[in-house]
Amino acid sequence: MRRHDVLVVGAGLAGQRAALAAIEAGCDVAIVSKLHPLRSHSGAAQGGINAAVGAEDSVDTHIYDTVKGSDYLGDQDAIEFFCREAGPTVVEMEHFGTIFSRGEDGSLARRPFGGAGFPRTIYAADRTGLALLQAIHERLSTEAFTLYEEWDLVSVLVRDERCLGIVAFDRRSGAFETIAARAVVIATGPAGRVYGRTTNAHSCTGDGVAAAYRAGAFLKDMEFVQFHPTALLESAILITEGARGEGGILKNVKGERFMVKYAPHVQDLASRDVVSRAIWTEVKEGRGFPGDYVHLELMHLGRERIESRLEEICDFSRKFAGVDPVVEPIPVMPAQHYMMGGVGTDIHGATNVAGLFSAGEAACVSIHGANRLGGNSLLETLVFGKEAGIAAAKYAKGASASPATEKDAAADEERLRAMMKRTDGEEPAAIRTEMQRVMDTQVGIYRSFPPLADALQRIRALKARYANVRIRDSSKAFNLNLTDTLEAGNLLDLAEAIIVGAIARTESRGAHARTDYPKRDDAGWMRHTLAAIGRDGPKLSYSPVAFTRWEPKERVY
Ligand code: FUM
Repeated sequence: MRRHDVLVVGAGLAGQRAALAAIEAGCDVAIVSKLHPLRSHSGAAQGGINAAVGAEDSVDTHIYDTVKGSDYLGDQDAIEFFCREAGPTVVEMEHFGTIFSRGEDGSLARRPFGGAGFPRTIYAADRTGLALLQAIHERLSTEAFTLYEEWDLVSVLVRDERCLGIVAFDRRSGAFETIAARAVVIATGPAGRVYGRTTNAHSCTGDGVAAAYRAGAFLKDMEFVQFHPTALLESAILITEGARGEGGILKNVKGERFMVKYAPHVQDLASRDVVSRAIWTEVKEGRGFPGDYVHLELMHLGRERIESRLEEICDFSRKFAGVDPVVEPIPVMPAQHYMMGGVGTDIHGATNVAGLFSAGEAACVSIHGANRLGGNSLLETLVFGKEAGIAAAKYAKGASASPATEKDAAADEERLRAMMKRTDGEEPAAIRTEMQRVMDTQVGIYRSFPPLADALQRIRALKARYANVRIRDSSKAFNLNLTDTLEAGNLLDLAEAIIVGAIARTESRGAHARTDYPKRDDAGWMRHTLAAIGRDGPKLSYSPVAFTRWEPKERVY
């Protein structure tokens, strides 16, 4: 049977960084990934990575901006650690070979990003995630480890409150296998495909988060979902915040620079929750363009600047919206972009299950609280990926061999083969599409009570239908119908956790905006939501927010 000290699930930036740390600690390491590592969604991150480098900026300002951006829900001890690690992390990535953009004097170029008190987002044009991903992959490729590529996670194995490994299936052979491990790191990235309108890739289905939850891990703060203000109108492809960082401005149908009203000090560079709500309000109050969108104007920046610093979004706008940003505005509307919630961890990636760790977007430490700042996500993958790898290696060295057996895989295989034998039942695609419509229309930027309750009922009805889902394709090799089915089940579990958390949180904070509870309520809700799986759905409990130096105050941009 396959056996490793540390098994990392997910091969994006967090997963690869965790694997590297565990290898450096002397462990036998494997990565399981449904994609080739260079196709991971980390590669889609455009705008940059935050680090307070240079004399004018300070780590304390980065910490404060992150605390304020989180609407005071981020744990301040974790944020302090995170921001202190930023400079060394960027330097390390440069030493690994990342080619960052440079200023005139040869120093690292930095651009302003939303909610930041200083231009501290370091970038590689508008392909920063890809540049980092290539560098970490090259570095990791010099080490000995096992890569299970194009393997789908089926379940996380937990017995007696200890994680024993996973069950996964190899798409090429169709074999279901137990992979035993002393420690497992969940780094499977986003779950944005819970929504239909999202900047996330089709592969972003929260597989590890859902599997960890079903195995007994707490999910934290799932109700906080980030909507990026500027996604292309029809395709929802990301138009980086770097475009506004370079000087791009948002305008409504009257030609007004409307952000002046919503964020008088920083305007277009307010935090994402503020800008997304502003765009939504402009459109709902009739100041959007016909077809419901606003304009992002870059033309005044000039061809040279646009094409050199924002080359990829030029390409996307031309190909997917038929507009040339050098001479005309880009039509944009918000789209789901990031989950602040995820598998609850401490600073070292440890969860409530012994031997189970998590990092990156799959995890919730929490440093982002109720709203993440742009540029803090790439940093998170590397800082906490490394921490989780170190902690998992340390745990693995002190743990006995995993008692997982081949029978674990056989049980999962039997359950899924029964779905393949069904002669009636629905396709997973129909259920997934309905779930996305419910989430887009009832659990979006603004939320309120009867629609949330109705959304929960609809998602639960979809879960009941999913129990009878049919996997029409019974072939062994590359059975993507099986993959789709597993993914739809994962998304449904996470959709339910998002809605249950959102109904319970009767306040507005960061990205969670309740029209029926429009105010932040620190007395009642300065706490993290924890969701544990129960027989009838998520069971909620709460944990305190860690404070160090910053008292909550009203958040104004
Ligand atoms: O707008 C962007 O480039 C996205 C960056 C991020 O989510 O950190």
